[in-house]
Amino acid sequence: MEIRLRVFRFQPEKDQRPRYDVFTIETDPTERILDLLEYVRGDVDGSLAFRRSCAHGVCGSDAMRINGRNLLACKVLVKDLGTSEITVEPLLGLRVIKDLIVDMGPFLEHYKSVMPYFINDDIPADGKEFLQSPEQRARFDDTTKCIMCAACTTSCPSFWSNTEYVGPAAIVNAHRFIFDSRDTGAAKRLEVLNEQFGVWRCRTAFNCTEACPREIKITQAIAEVKQVLTSGKLE
Ligand code: SF4
Ligand code: F3S
Ligand code: FES
Repeated sequence: MEIRLRVFRFQPEKDQRPRYDVFTIETDPTERILDLLEYVRGDVDGSLAFRRSCAHGVCGSDAMRINGRNLLACKVLVKDLGTSEITVEPLLGLRVIKDLIVDMGPFLEHYKSVMPYFINDDIPADGKEFLQSPEQRARFDDTTKCIMCAACTTSCPSFWSNTEYVGPAAIVNAHRFIFDSRDTGAAKRLEVLNEQFGVWRCRTAFNCTEACPREIKITQAIAEVKQVLTSGKLE
């Protein structure tokens, strides 16, 4: 089939404003959007900039807007879009560095702010490891699946209106440790999330949940964190 691929192009240090380049490509419906971008960069225009690494939905580096939705370019087939007109744009809410590459700095700062690592200075009772039941492990299983693609945070209207909002990805990663029975850092994380730009900026828009390529129940995870803050009980 023949498709028309419209690609957002912008190099801030050279261009006064962004433009869209159009590439007409003969392709197979089972090709991925990432394959189309690779073709353009490899065979048509080597100056096209985009991120990718694993090409298999694991690293989270190729999240972008494809026909208006935040998706991983390596997980979307041409036939999935149901049209031969395909527009590819960078994620919203983060500064464009070049073409489809955005500055992930603010996103990663929010992630760091919730201390997304295991905190426990105690010594395990058996001197070797902290034990956990399957039920305790299941409590935070969903939020362990995050691949830090930023599709959620950059689809959130609260983040678009104020990028100081910590955002759903950071809350998901805080949730992963807050509800881990072996971790002792919940109070510190909850303090961060109870601040002006923490969880209360979430207006339950659900865009984040719709955008997540790992199908994490993000809005539910945020609600659970809010519930702990309201009740004062970690359950
Ligand atoms: Fe991506 Fe989902 Fe993690 Fe958000 S929660 S960064 S959408 S994997
Ligand atoms: Fe934003 Fe998701 Fe809340 S889209 S407003 S973080 S439910
Ligand atoms: Fe790694 Fe798409 S390139 S998730």
